[in-house]
Amino acid sequence: MERIVLLSPNSHDFMKKLPSHQLIAKQFPDGENYIRIPVEFRGKEVVFIHRCYPHQDKSLMQLFLAIKTLKEGGASRVRAVVPYLPYARQDKLFLKGEALSSKIVCGLINESGCDELITFDCHFLKKEGIFNYAGLDIRNISLSHAILSYFKKKLHSPKIISPDEGASYFLAKEKDSGVMKKTRGAYSKGKTMYRKPEIEVDFNVEGRDVVIVDDIIGTGSTMLKAVEACKKLGAKSIYCGASHGLFLNNSLKRLKRAGAKEVIASNSINSPASKINIVDSLRGVL
Ligand code: R5P
Repeated sequence: MERIVLLSPNSHDFMKKLPSHQLIAKQFPDGENYIRIPVEFRGKEVVFIHRCYPHQDKSLMQLFLAIKTLKEGGASRVRAVVPYLPYARQDKLFLKGEALSSKIVCGLINESGCDELITFDCHFLKKEGIFNYAGLDIRNISLSHAILSYFKKKLHSPKIISPDEGASYFLAKEKDSGVMKKTRGAYSKGKTMYRKPEIEVDFNVEGRDVVIVDDIIGTGSTMLKAVEACKKLGAKSIYCGASHGLFLNNSLKRLKRAGAKEVIASNSINSPASKINIVDSLRGVL
């Protein structure tokens, strides 16, 4: 089956590594999305690469419009690559009447006609593999190997740490590792839904080079607590890596100020910390 790669305007930087076509995405004067696929795709498998962060809501709408247009226009298979899947964090209900956004969003992607969603270190899956979630076939690729290899080229036998149980699968192949214990408090008051993390460490890092790895650096609170704990316990040097660097609240700078020697992330979201190219981990899948 012939295959084409279609890049959204927010993903044109992947063009350097992937022969591809470009989707046209514009906006009407009222802010609504206009989508056009200016290439013949009938009967072909289409791999559509589209970032859904920042501007999650707008990007998701563009995703639905593009997938539906491809399917209705006769694409034989549509595989959407969404490097960082938004709305993945509300995967449990805490209060009566809450929306289970991870399931709702995946259900909508499925209903738009997506045959496979390819993503990286999806928050609610917590391991690499092929899954069906809310009817959607998801291929979840982990960047753990790429992140750890980056640091292992610089450091001699570092201790590899995850700041919570959720990211402990990043350490699965590591002999010298530690999982911190994270708890979150109650939701804060006000309009932002946020629960402050607390971290406990029950292993030794004294005199060690440590690498702390997580799926997401969002507000940076989790990573900051982990860096501060390692510093207090006498780590020799501290490095941080995450698949997705949102770096809210100026957290990239705050992590460095707190003592992190280097902070890296992938280009699932572009930032000055983007050192891992997700396209390298797509080889063999596309
Ligand atoms: C949570 O379970 C995740 O693995 C991350 O630790 C979390 O999303 C990081 O968020 P923040 O940077 O806001 O603490």
